[in-house]
Amino acid sequence: MDIIKKIYNDKKFMSIAEPMLTHKEFVKTKNIVHHGSTRFNHSVKVAYVAYKLSKMLGCDTKSAIIGGTLHDFFLVRDDDNLSAYTKMLINHPTIAKENAIKYFGVNEKEQNIIESHMFPTSTVAPKSKEAWIVALSDKIISMSDATVTAKAKVAMWMLFLINFIR
Ligand SMILES: [Fe+2]
Ligand SMILES: [Fe+2]
Repeated sequence: MDIIKKIYNDKKFMSIAEPMLTHKEFVKTKNIVHHGSTRFNHSVKVAYVAYKLSKMLGCDTKSAIIGGTLHDFFLVRDDDNLSAYTKMLINHPTIAKENAIKYFGVNEKEQNIIESHMFPTSTVAPKSKEAWIVALSDKIISMSDATVTAKAKVAMWMLFLINFIR
């Protein structure tokens, strides 16, 4: 069965995620290519893995679902140019956080989940178990996409090294 269909059949997950997944602004991410999938499908998968992990570990599943769903809530398209792409990799967690506040009024914990999801290639560190879980889930889903581009890998490693040495 299609993984997205399977996720949509999970009533507990959908009771939290549905208002976001049907919101007219968030639905626009369906039209943006992201790691060879759409940004919408990527976000749903990250949120679901984060939900399952947080449930397994006895964490706050609601914040994991909200943070996971909205972690890449930005409408800028991937740019072909490596320097613009790297800049976007740095800036998008803040843009996503601002959109999440604007459209869904997310709380401080969820704001940190979104802003730190690129850790260790971001300057903001995860402050909760759920933030660590979403950061890990994002990496699992991103790397499992067979179509992660060489450009994305180069930019990620560059940022990781810059953060590591400073
Ligand atoms: Fe991201
Ligand atoms: Fe992501």
